[in-house]
Amino acid sequence: MPNDGRWATQPYSGYGINEALQEDTELTHVGPGTPCGEYMRRFWQPVAMTSQLGDLPVAIRILGEDLVIFRDRSGAIGLLHKHCAHRGASLEFGRIEEHGIRCCYHGWHFANDGTVLETPGEPEDSPIRHRVCQGAYPVREVKGLVFAYMGPPEEQPGFPYYDSIDLPDHELLPYSIHSPCNWLQESENSIDPFHSVFLHGRNAGPQFAGLEHFVELPVVAYHSRPNGFVYSHARRIDDLVMIRFHDHVTPNMAQNGAMFQNLAKPKAFGRMSLTKWVVPVDDTNSRKFGWRHFNDKDEGLRQGTPDDVGWEKVDFYGQTAHRSYEEMQRNPGDWEAWSSQRPIAVHQREYLGTTDEGVAKLRSKLKRDIRAVAKGKAVLRPEGTAEKPIHTYAGDTTLRIPKDNRDDKALMDRVQREVYEIYLSGDPYFGEDRKEFIQREIEGRFPMA
Ligand code: FES
Ligand SMILES: [Fe+2]
Repeated sequence: MPNDGRWATQPYSGYGINEALQEDTELTHVGPGTPCGEYMRRFWQPVAMTSQLGDLPVAIRILGEDLVIFRDRSGAIGLLHKHCAHRGASLEFGRIEEHGIRCCYHGWHFANDGTVLETPGEPEDSPIRHRVCQGAYPVREVKGLVFAYMGPPEEQPGFPYYDSIDLPDHELLPYSIHSPCNWLQESENSIDPFHSVFLHGRNAGPQFAGLEHFVELPVVAYHSRPNGFVYSHARRIDDLVMIRFHDHVTPNMAQNGAMFQNLAKPKAFGRMSLTKWVVPVDDTNSRKFGWRHFNDKDEGLRQGTPDDVGWEKVDFYGQTAHRSYEEMQRNPGDWEAWSSQRPIAVHQREYLGTTDEGVAKLRSKLKRDIRAVAKGKAVLRPEGTAEKPIHTYAGDTTLRIPKDNRDDKALMDRVQREVYEIYLSGDPYFGEDRKEFIQREIEGRFPMA
């Protein structure tokens, strides 16, 4: 069979597959006015770490827009279009005022909402300042991250307050890491439990203490949710069945279980170690913003290192560019994998298999939502408050279920689905009530000793 231009189909047939195939623009282009860009602008997105905000403004780029972010002298945060509404000088060279920022070029003074407060070179009675605003976006500061809403003002949703923001005993440390590639391929890594088997396990040896069992192929169950997916993967170690749950909230938020857990004993309802968003900088750059959760109960091995979490760093292997090229080649991590799928992965060139079910489901859901927004329909946004936060499910449940003469994979599949149903049955409750309910139900249903 001759090559069809997309894939080689016979040995030694690299020749003839160089047809210029394009990326899927609908899912990957994020600038103003693009279908995916419009969709992503319907959601609050993290755009900066508060540790970036000192006494100087900071130029950032989010969703293909050049912006400037700063904390004014009153303590409020402004997020404005970078180029001044007067004649375009960059506000990164502006002077931070008590309220807002002043452009260096002709002194126009902007409030954080973009209102022009002063045009000092104009006649005192000039109406010019009432006729124009600087582009501005509302922001919200949460635990070291700054979130912004960059969509149509009339569609601004409430801030999506997740339960993971306020877990007792969890200390949240913010971090942010750049990747030179499209947001989607980095985000897809979080809904691909099979890469852990190879990239983090078999390729160069286990990369994460406490996750050595990832070398085994898991039994995976995906569950559709109104706002994305929850999925779990189960593996056996002797008498224990280890089940890990993930949240993947569309468009780009994900959470997973403990990084450094104690594998030796059962656990009813462990919670997440990471809450993260892959935010498009532009079509070919992305920035992960997230929180590392530190807590002794869920991360029993206590190997996490708070000092290694922050700007361009996080305390587990393979997440940044900051290793030698040789080390990247000998022991590649997530960062090498997603960054090397081309600046924008070309889906037409891929050959998806059974391990890609999560990726395929995610792309279908994103397309549905992107098309809904393009047609002017409302898209569902997660809603929650500090008092009644959005329930999430990421974490670990480990059960003592000895192997018997039944099909072990079928058993693990059944058990993880049952645990998921128990998680869901806790939805009427909040906070510690929910946690206690789920723990009680799991401990009542499965022997934990
Ligand atoms: S360009 Fe900013 S005040 Fe003139
Ligand atoms: Fe990974």
